[in-house]
Amino acid sequence: MKRIAVVGGRGFVGGELLRLLVHHPEVEVTAVTSDTHAGRAVETAHPPLRGSGLRYGRREDLEPADLIFLAGVHGSTAKILDDTAALAPKIVDLTADFRLADAALMERYYGWRRDGEHAAPFVRGLPELHREEIAAADRVAVPGCMATSAILSLAPLAARGLLRDIDVDARTGSSGSGASSGDANSHALRSGVMRVFAPFGHRHEAEVSEALGVAASMTVTATPQVRGVQTLAKVDVGEVSERELLGMYREDYAKEPFVRLVNSPRGTYRYPDPKVLLGSNFCDVGVVVDGRGKALVMGSIDNLMKGAAGGAVQCMNLMLGLPETYGLTFPGLHPV
Ligand SMILES: NC(=O)c1ccc[n+]([C@@H]2O[C@H](COP(=O)([O-])OP(=O)(O)OC[C@H]3O[C@@H](n4cnc5c(N)ncnc54)[C@H](OP(=O)(O)O)[C@@H]3O)[C@@H](O)[C@H]2O)c1
Repeated sequence: MKRIAVVGGRGFVGGELLRLLVHHPEVEVTAVTSDTHAGRAVETAHPPLRGSGLRYGRREDLEPADLIFLAGVHGSTAKILDDTAALAPKIVDLTADFRLADAALMERYYGWRRDGEHAAPFVRGLPELHREEIAAADRVAVPGCMATSAILSLAPLAARGLLRDIDVDARTGSSGSGASSGDANSHALRSGVMRVFAPFGHRHEAEVSEALGVAASMTVTATPQVRGVQTLAKVDVGEVSERELLGMYREDYAKEPFVRLVNSPRGTYRYPDPKVLLGSNFCDVGVVVDGRGKALVMGSIDNLMKGAAGGAVQCMNLMLGLPETYGLTFPGLHPV
């Protein structure tokens, strides 16, 4: 059994990581940290983990492990990278600290740049685009949730030179802001909203730009559900037909265990819908054309799964030489 530690295990992403790891056939969770909950049972923060026997410890007391997940707040990984690297040969980071390779983009979107040892490269944690690099990597940075949905839904078009500038319309549920988000995420203020909170310049657009090699802009709207991300983008595809576009997606994703092409001629679930993905590691993608040279490209995920913990465990499996789907085959709940 591989020994796994989770830093930041009190948060929403940490909870999902633990839910996946405690039932994983080839790993054992040897430590979970939280500064605010040190000494308490993990189930006090994550009731689905009742009976797991896991207890929070302090990060300073971490013992060596085979792989450490870093699920703290943005900025925390850069501060503890050296200490963490001394304890484990492999690191999977869920913060934004090492998602961007371009230091200038990092400075523009986050206001700080990495220098010296903190410039150490991390591989982008999207197996569909970087499988072999992840399998060979010691350090992997999982992309942001909305970036994951946008990148996977648009990648087949980018690979064929069909993308120029793109505008991504992203919608996100409240868990995307984490367990400690402020007043705007309280039930009274969040319930029922369709609130545009990032008209332009959301940080995830930098990841989309870098991953797809095109200028991207992203508008983000807060929606009332707890989990789920949907991204939409309209792309000029000229004479390319819907049938040809669907063929491109099938070609790229037919063998992917966690990407599904959704485009049904009838029924309630004709296009990607995050509601049917809750708890699963799938990214559903879809494309439809209007007959006048425009395509609507759609992506949907559970932000805490394929957009965070699920994607991270998929990377862990690759990094440890395990079957990629281990621990990740839960199909989701319906209805929920
Ligand atoms: N929520 C999502 O949908 C989502 C998706 C993709 C990526 N992410 C990223 O994943 C990370 C965790 O997100 P989350 O939603 O789980 O956030 P969260 O619910 O707010 O949890 C944050 C965690 O970080 C810990 N923490 C706080 N300050 C820290 C520090 N200085 N060093 C180390 N740990 C610290 C907190 O625990 P204590 O305060 O008890 O120590 C808590 O366990 C974030 O970087 C987030 O951007 C989140």
